[in-house]
Amino acid sequence: MLKALKNEFVNVFGGSINDVSSYFAPGRVNLIGEHIDYNGGHVFPCALSVGTYAIARKRNDNILRLYSKNFTEMNVIETSIKDLSYDKRHDWSNYPKGVIYMLQQEGYSITSGFDVLFFGNIPNGAGLSSSASIEVVTAVLLKDLFSLQIGMIDMVKLSQRAENEFIGVNCGIMDQFAIGMGKQDQAILLDCDTLDYQYSPIKLNNMSLVIANTNKKRGLADSKYNERRNECERALSQLQQELSIASLCQLTPAQFDQSKHLISNEVDRRRAKHAVYENERTMQAVKKLQNGDIAAFGQLMNQSHISLRDDYEVSGFELDTMVEAAWKQDGVIGARMTGAGFGGCAVCIVENNKIESFIANVSKEYTLKTKLEADFYVVEVGEGARKLEEVLL
Ligand code: GLA
Repeated sequence: MLKALKNEFVNVFGGSINDVSSYFAPGRVNLIGEHIDYNGGHVFPCALSVGTYAIARKRNDNILRLYSKNFTEMNVIETSIKDLSYDKRHDWSNYPKGVIYMLQQEGYSITSGFDVLFFGNIPNGAGLSSSASIEVVTAVLLKDLFSLQIGMIDMVKLSQRAENEFIGVNCGIMDQFAIGMGKQDQAILLDCDTLDYQYSPIKLNNMSLVIANTNKKRGLADSKYNERRNECERALSQLQQELSIASLCQLTPAQFDQSKHLISNEVDRRRAKHAVYENERTMQAVKKLQNGDIAAFGQLMNQSHISLRDDYEVSGFELDTMVEAAWKQDGVIGARMTGAGFGGCAVCIVENNKIESFIANVSKEYTLKTKLEADFYVVEVGEGARKLEEVLL
C-alpha cells in the first residue's frame, strides 16, 4: 500500500519517489471513560491499526500543497506557509493547516513549504477520531521534515490546541493523546487532570473488539458537545461555592451524593453525576481487566452506556438501538457507545466464535428498526503515530 501511495504522490506532485517520506497516525476507540476528559477524569482509549497515512516532501519555496485521496474531488489545495488562516472552503485541510499554524505560534521554525498526500482508512465522521489522526500525523511529519525539537506529548497538546483554537471545536485531550501515545495491544489509562498515564494490556483471550458503525452522521455533535461542556462547568461552579475542587472528577460518588443539592438545575445535576460516576467506573473497569475479569469489565461498559443514554443524553435512537441489539446476543461481554455520541460507533467485546452470528443478528435488527445499514469492524489495537520505516515498503 505504501508503495502505491508514494507513486500516487509522484503522480499528483511530480518529482521522484526517492525523496519522499511516509508517516502514519492511527484512529482511536475509547473503551470506557466517556465525556470526562474535559472534566478532569480518567479515560481508557486505545489506538487502532487503521489510521491516516501521509507522504510528504519539502519544497524550495513557501508553497504548501495538500491533497487527500479521501477527498479527490477537492483536488490539490494550495496555500502558503506564510498565510495560514481558517478557510471554510478548504474543508478537511484546515486540520493540517491548524497544526502548522500552532507550531509556528509556539516558535517552531518551519523553514519552507512542502507537499503532502494523505490517505485515511478510518471511516470519516464515525467517532473514531479521523480528525485527530490527521492532526497528529501532520505534527509528526513536520517534526521529521524540519528536525523540530518537540516530544510526542507536546505534539499531542498542540494538536488539541489546533482543534480548539483553529477549528473551533472545544474537545478534550483524549483523542490526540491516544493517537500519539498508543501502543500495540495496550490501552492507556490516562488521568486527564495530570496527564499521568499507564499502559494496560488488552488481553481478551478468546474475544475481540468489534466496532459497530451506526452510519448515522453526527450532525449535532459539535453544538451539543459544547452544550454539555457548559452544563458541566455550571454544575462545577455551583459545587465550588462550598467545595474546593478544580474539576468534577475530583469528587468520589459518595462526596458527590452529599453535595449534589448545591446544583440547582436538575439537568446539570445529572450531567455532573455522569462525570463523577463514569470516572469511578473507569478506574474500577481497568482494575477488573488487569485482574483478568473481562466479564466485570463488560458490565461496567454496559453501565457506562446507560449513564450516557439517561444522564448525559449523548446517545440517541440509532446508538441505543445498536447497543440494545448487541446486549441481547450470545457471546457479548459488553457494549456501549464510544466517542462524542449522537451517532457514530458503538464498541463491543464479543467471543470470537460468536462474531459471525453477532454481526448477522445485530445488523438485521438495526436495519429493521432504523432503516440504516450498519458496518462492523473487528479491530486490532495498534501503535501510536510514527514515521514509517523504509523497511516496511
Ligand atoms: C470527542 C472529543 C474527546 C472526548 C470524547 C468524549 O471524541 O474529541 O475529547 O471528549 O468526544 O469522551
